[in-house]
Amino acid sequence: MGGTTEHAGNFVPVDERLVSFFVSQKLEKGHILMNIMQQDILQQLEQLQQDAQTALAQTTTTEAIKEWHSEYLSRKGRLTGILRNLGNLSTEERPLIGKVANEVKIVLEHALQERQAAIAQAELEAIRRAESVDVTLPGRPQNLGKLHITTRALRDIYAIFSAMGFQIYDSPEVETDEYNFQLLNIPEGHPARDMWDTFYTTTHGLLLRTHTSPGQIHAMREYAPEPIRVILPGKCYRYEAVDASHEFMFYQVEGLAVGKHITFSDLKGVLINFANQMYGEGRKARFRKSYFPFTEPSVEMDIDCVLCGGKGCPVCKYTGWLEMLGAGMVHPRVLENGGYDPTEFSGFAFGMGPDRIALQKYGIDDIRYFFTNDARLLERV
Ligand code: FA5
Repeated sequence: MGGTTEHAGNFVPVDERLVSFFVSQKLEKGHILMNIMQQDILQQLEQLQQDAQTALAQTTTTEAIKEWHSEYLSRKGRLTGILRNLGNLSTEERPLIGKVANEVKIVLEHALQERQAAIAQAELEAIRRAESVDVTLPGRPQNLGKLHITTRALRDIYAIFSAMGFQIYDSPEVETDEYNFQLLNIPEGHPARDMWDTFYTTTHGLLLRTHTSPGQIHAMREYAPEPIRVILPGKCYRYEAVDASHEFMFYQVEGLAVGKHITFSDLKGVLINFANQMYGEGRKARFRKSYFPFTEPSVEMDIDCVLCGGKGCPVCKYTGWLEMLGAGMVHPRVLENGGYDPTEFSGFAFGMGPDRIALQKYGIDDIRYFFTNDARLLERV
């Protein structure tokens, strides 16, 4: 009997198979006494093989294969179910039926392996097709972020002053009353304190700085009696009525130069050079007298409005001028507080607001946009 039932779809009818089996056992056809039970089991096996082969041909996924195996070949499957009835056969009949059942099993297992391999290959192909990369497709554009407008203004300021030999000096945002006011010639009770009211911490005498000017004292005390040329950028805080041009938290960049024979002309030269580089050559600048307790004389510097060219517009409030910064010659008492002898040394200082500079430069009408975190602001400039 051997190979007669080995190939799926090539089933050999039971009677013929039995004949071939008994021939191989050298028994004569006439001696076969097939009882009804035996015939029934053989028919069941034949039916099972046919059903299993038809069902297997219809499977298309690994999942379906598993279900098929569970239905036909597992311990709880249909083949085992049929074999349970072997116990009802005689001892002579059992090996015969057992052998046929075993052959059915081998045929089905073989068919299963072939089907599994075909499905695995098809699934692999499908994955390969789905995940394949078409290298000829054009790339997708990436959305690049942008630097915040204030950061851009700060970086421009750093570059311009670095080129003029200024170093960047970092000083603390949390200050003492002494540094923020007293050493800058603003003793307790001085009316200028009203202009620079701030937020106080719960530690007595500690506050959030109202301007970057206390950094002047830190820098001077670190370098005196060497000459210095520094800019001091950073955040400042004020008890402020917030509006389109006033925030309670904003940036400043302080500038300080101390040395021998430094004059007001040096201050003007540095600031006009800065304005030309920041806003473009040929800017008109004007200096108005002003008052700061830590500089003498004190000035405020304006440039002609970058938006209307001096004709007058809402940004310059129809004056044709934009205020750029406060400045002056370092007060002798402040030089002394910093460790310099004012009879030998002189210096200039200035303080500007890069947020306001950015407003002017990019024509933005409200400083409050800077901290509202709306990315559309960055798209505008
Ligand atoms: C001062 O703070 C002085 N320390 C500047 C100074 C330094 C003068 C050195 C002399 C020598 P003032 O309060 O004017 O000055 O502020 C300077 C700049 O900070 C202003 O021109 C403005 O650009 C910016 N600024 C001030 N207050 C605010 C605010 N509430 N919101 C945004 N920017 C502000």
